[in-house]
Amino acid sequence: MTDVKKIFVKTYGCQMNVYDSERMAEALGAKGYVTTDKVEDADMVLLNTCHIREKASEKLYSALGRLRALKNAKPDLKVGVAGCVAQAEGAEILRRSPVVDLVVGPQAYHRLPEMLDAGGRQVDTDFPVEDKFTLLPERKSLRGPTAFLTVQEGCDKFCAFCVVPYTRGAEVSRPVSRLLVEARGLVAQGVREITLLGQNVNAYHGEGADGAWALSRLLRELAKVDGLARLRYTTSHPNDMDDDLIAAHGDLPALMPYLHLPVQSGSDQILKAMNRKHTADSYLRLIDRIRAVRPDVLLSSDFIVGFPGETDADFQATLDLIRAVGFGQAFSFKYSARPGTPAAEKTAVPAPVADARLHELQALITGQQRAAQEAMVGREVTVLYEKPGRMAGQMVGKSDHLHAVHVSDPDGRIGQLKRVRVLASSSNSLAADPLFTIE
Ligand code: SAH
Ligand code: SF4
Ligand code: F3S
Repeated sequence: MTDVKKIFVKTYGCQMNVYDSERMAEALGAKGYVTTDKVEDADMVLLNTCHIREKASEKLYSALGRLRALKNAKPDLKVGVAGCVAQAEGAEILRRSPVVDLVVGPQAYHRLPEMLDAGGRQVDTDFPVEDKFTLLPERKSLRGPTAFLTVQEGCDKFCAFCVVPYTRGAEVSRPVSRLLVEARGLVAQGVREITLLGQNVNAYHGEGADGAWALSRLLRELAKVDGLARLRYTTSHPNDMDDDLIAAHGDLPALMPYLHLPVQSGSDQILKAMNRKHTADSYLRLIDRIRAVRPDVLLSSDFIVGFPGETDADFQATLDLIRAVGFGQAFSFKYSARPGTPAAEKTAVPAPVADARLHELQALITGQQRAAQEAMVGREVTVLYEKPGRMAGQMVGKSDHLHAVHVSDPDGRIGQLKRVRVLASSSNSLAADPLFTIE
């Protein structure tokens, strides 16, 4: 067994990268690599990077700096950089960091095994015409009861602040038949919940037997897969929430009552400058339509504060929108100028102003988040057990509304769906007692 080698994979950024990391590890598995969670044991280190904000790419270079000692001690160590910084900076990474052997973009990673075979320092940031997914080995890692499934990649929206259209390329949807095969394969391995992924997942328009299918139709078909109890999807753009997708939230029990729908700002002037192509009002009306079919849906969003030109009044409009919607969860970021994006040319809001706004916005969101979680106390909810908790006899999983729930259940098993009663809410999770097993 001298040819068993170990690979350590570190993932930054979004869920799409989590999915890609798994697929890259599997592609290298075909070359005899097994994964390790100890970097010092690794024969290869793969950093799957994110370029969305400045801090995200700085993380890569500090991680590479830390790898220098390991590479000196182990000259045969291979270091690969994948993901969106790889796409954006390409060969520049080899120049900046002598420890790096391979740089591979998000659309080229199926070529990792042959790049390793070829030896030497290499870069591949092509957007090949063939679909990388067809060239990757079948998914077969041991896994828990939840899985991601990438159905769509890339983005044609070109929001003025965002690097994704440049790092991930144009929107491409995977064909329906392949997704059904992959989903059924996951369920056969014990997966009970699948989250469909895409940078613009609700723009999905994959080829079906009779033309292009929308995301709603794909969800309706997946809901028929025996053994698949839960479906989620992320991330959506407000402009791509079509009528049938909204309707699906009302009539598909497997589609969970949780929707991440980034709005970015509540000011029409800022939304226009961001090239978002929706207004605060159109967003609020959309939320009303979703709540009309699924009143208990828990809404989540992304916000950017301090976008160039954002005034106090613009920021107040964002707070007003947050108050009007009531989010159960949200991510908020200080605007970060990204090279090559249109907004990067404009004058930024002074950092202390942006910091203060971010702080205020986060306090408002935290309050809403806490209220949404506390509203669950006393209620019966369904939990999918994902792992044992830290305490003996405890199981941890997610509720339909994606709240983390700790259940005192010595009989609990991973993969069970249980009805539980919520007893208490702490800062990041709910505590519950089991009632009965659903499946
Ligand atoms: N496709 C998704 C999200 C993509 S990136 C969408 O359309 O909403 C995830 C989040 O990062 C974005 O929603 C945005 O809030 C944030 N983000 C993207 N670029 C940013 C930038 N330059 N500065 C700060 N936050 C940014
Ligand atoms: Fe970026 Fe906008 Fe595309 Fe989302 S929709 S990935 S924010 S360009
Ligand atoms: Fe980051 Fe690329 Fe995802 S920039 S957020 S890893 S698409």
